[in-house]
Amino acid sequence: MKRNKIAAIDVGTTKVCTIIADTDGGSLPRILGVGIVPSHGLHKGLVVNFDEAKQSIRESVRRAEQIAGQRLESAYIGITGRHVSSVNNRGVVAITRNDRLVRSGDLKRVLDVARSVKIAGEREVLHVIPRTFAVDGQEGVKNPVGMHGFRLDVETHIISAAVTSVKNLTKCIRGIGVDVEDLVLEPLASAEAVLTDEEKEQGVMLADIGGGTTDIAVFKDNSIYHTSVLPIAGYQLTRDISLGLNLSFELAEQMKKKYGSVLPIPENSRGEDDRALSADGHSVSYRELSDIIRMRVEELLRLVVLELPRNDYAALIPSGLVLTGGGANLPGIAELGAETTRLPVRVGVPISLYGVSDTLRDPAYATGVGLLMWALKNQGTKNWRPQTGMQRFVSKIFQLFS
Ligand SMILES: Nc1ncnc2c1ncn2[C@@H]1O[C@H](COP(=O)(O)OP(=O)(O)OP(=O)(O)O)[C@@H](O)[C@H]1O
Ligand SMILES: [Mg+2]
Repeated sequence: MKRNKIAAIDVGTTKVCTIIADTDGGSLPRILGVGIVPSHGLHKGLVVNFDEAKQSIRESVRRAEQIAGQRLESAYIGITGRHVSSVNNRGVVAITRNDRLVRSGDLKRVLDVARSVKIAGEREVLHVIPRTFAVDGQEGVKNPVGMHGFRLDVETHIISAAVTSVKNLTKCIRGIGVDVEDLVLEPLASAEAVLTDEEKEQGVMLADIGGGTTDIAVFKDNSIYHTSVLPIAGYQLTRDISLGLNLSFELAEQMKKKYGSVLPIPENSRGEDDRALSADGHSVSYRELSDIIRMRVEELLRLVVLELPRNDYAALIPSGLVLTGGGANLPGIAELGAETTRLPVRVGVPISLYGVSDTLRDPAYATGVGLLMWALKNQGTKNWRPQTGMQRFVSKIFQLFS
């Protein structure tokens, strides 16, 4: 059987991760090559220095190609940042053919109608995700193809992004000779790697705590319910440690990764659990380090649940909160999360992998692996279509007169 090649590039604020894989059409990708390098030229998910960002992406792609022993021609790319926003919108079409049978062409038509929601000229649509369909008013239909009716409605979640941010990212990728297969909102990708179908059915919140942003996605009834991006993540945590303990940023980052924890030290331990940690001639107290981390992470977790669009948490997300991204590596974070939010909390690690995949079994690679899973599910149904100059012109004119 012919194997299909797929590839993903997660351009994160702290690292670029390129994965080349292939598939025999099943649901598991076989990993052929992975290239992980520190990223430069990015801030809070955005390209801020074009040449530096391009250089990091090029190096990451080169390493993955070297291990896989093959060239990477096109890839699925993750995108995030404060410029991303989402709305829910409905679309309606009539089924006018004699047999009144809903066909896949009607599905495409109704999604196009929903997609035409008015969004500002400087934004473009990344995803139009159908949440639920209705045929002749009968709600809750998951797949209407093959049903009979006069009227087809769809409820969609539409995600849009700033044209300039999209352009800067895609220009970097194309600039190194790689074609953009599709752009995928990062939390949607991470969800593919770490959430179960059951969690998505019952209701679950995913928070990907990265370097520059914490990306959020809420799923309910097996479809996307809400997405948002918080501009607070591992970077701010390191900055707090650096300021609080008077260490350089680099040393604070090292300390955080090596000794960082959110596990409380028992009050009655009288200091015997408080070790002196030393690095680079500096000595810091373990208790002080973990106090700073715990306070910041607790605050972040509170902000995460405040992003929920409804406050009946237990009914909306009975499966609780799944933490992923590099920040989810902090020992004790699930316990602290459960205590702070009173929800079930677990850490999501990508596991459905085979091939040269050992390094990827870390929450930091949920987005990269998830992009591959997304690719497997959505091959051939490109969501993002780059806006042409003409489309931008028409949407500007439209805005002037509306
Ligand atoms: N063991 C660890 N303990 C604490 N923090 C960690 C650990 N490992 C990684 N991190 C933190 O995770 C963050 C990086 O996470 P990740 O790789 O998911 O980010 P990214 O994808 O590059 O960034 P973003 O998604 O925000 O663009 C850094 O702030 C790093 O300090
Ligand atoms: Mg990330």
